[in-house]
Amino acid sequence: MNDDPIVYLNGDFLPSSQAKVSVLDRGFIYGDGVYEVIPVYHRAPFRMPHHLKRLQQSLNGIRLANPMDDEAWDALVRDLIARQPFDDQSVYLQVTRGAAKRDHAFPKGVAPTVFMMSNPLVLPTRDQVEFGVPVVSADDNRWLRCDLKTTSLLGNVLMRQRAADVGAVECVMFRDGHLTEASASNVLIVRGGTIVAPPKDNQILPGITYDATHEFAREAGMPMEVRPVSRDEAISADEMWLSSSTKEVLAVSTLDGKPIGGGGPGPMFRRMYQAFQNHKPAAARRG
Ligand code: PDD
Repeated sequence: MNDDPIVYLNGDFLPSSQAKVSVLDRGFIYGDGVYEVIPVYHRAPFRMPHHLKRLQQSLNGIRLANPMDDEAWDALVRDLIARQPFDDQSVYLQVTRGAAKRDHAFPKGVAPTVFMMSNPLVLPTRDQVEFGVPVVSADDNRWLRCDLKTTSLLGNVLMRQRAADVGAVECVMFRDGHLTEASASNVLIVRGGTIVAPPKDNQILPGITYDATHEFAREAGMPMEVRPVSRDEAISADEMWLSSSTKEVLAVSTLDGKPIGGGGPGPMFRRMYQAFQNHKPAAARRG
């Protein structure tokens, strides 16, 4: 493993150890920035246009001009990918409001900071796919713009640590008695043969993988509903899945120590997982 990979910072590709950002960067001081994580299979980014569209939505949401058009982003991401010694990658990119004297209000005439790195894509293990993963639950106490992929992730960090503290993989959250999402994934359930997913409103991140599951479900003729999911429905679901760019789809085995459905991946999960794997080579060819 290369421990000093090539990263991108403000126009330059350079070894990670040499990439430096000002201590006054608003990403550091305020978490004033947005980010994306793009999975890469066999050096081809998966659903890049979707990620760039969401990046634009996040930038609009924090009133920060996009420093590049999609073509330039696409070229830079591909350049970064080509500079890594491994095929399956996870590209992380972030844009912050740049370095300026500390003042909450936006600075004027300051260039944004653009940073990108790519790590090996670490997908769930065979055992996790085969047997599902334990999760814990918590009341969602994050802010009400969870639809923006901002670098201000302390709420999510604290939730994820609750899971890590007890050896669980994720923390599934509920707000006002309804399922929202997990600390770094979307959550879908299955009841009576129908996939049920919470609506993409301000309370959850509009996941690219969440959208992919909808498309794959439609293609495979798997019934799907988008509507609020109560805590009771979630806890007593036949199946519960996590979805994210680095987890793909992953079944939940237990929630707070109690089995979900049969306590492992169910038949609908297996179909969706297969659909996902079937789509990867074609998507990788398309880039
Ligand atoms: N997280 N919800 C939250 C809060 C997330 O952080 C993520 C992704 C998702 C799933 O979105 P997508 O399918 O587009 O990856 C939902 C990324 C992987 C991360 O922060 O590392």
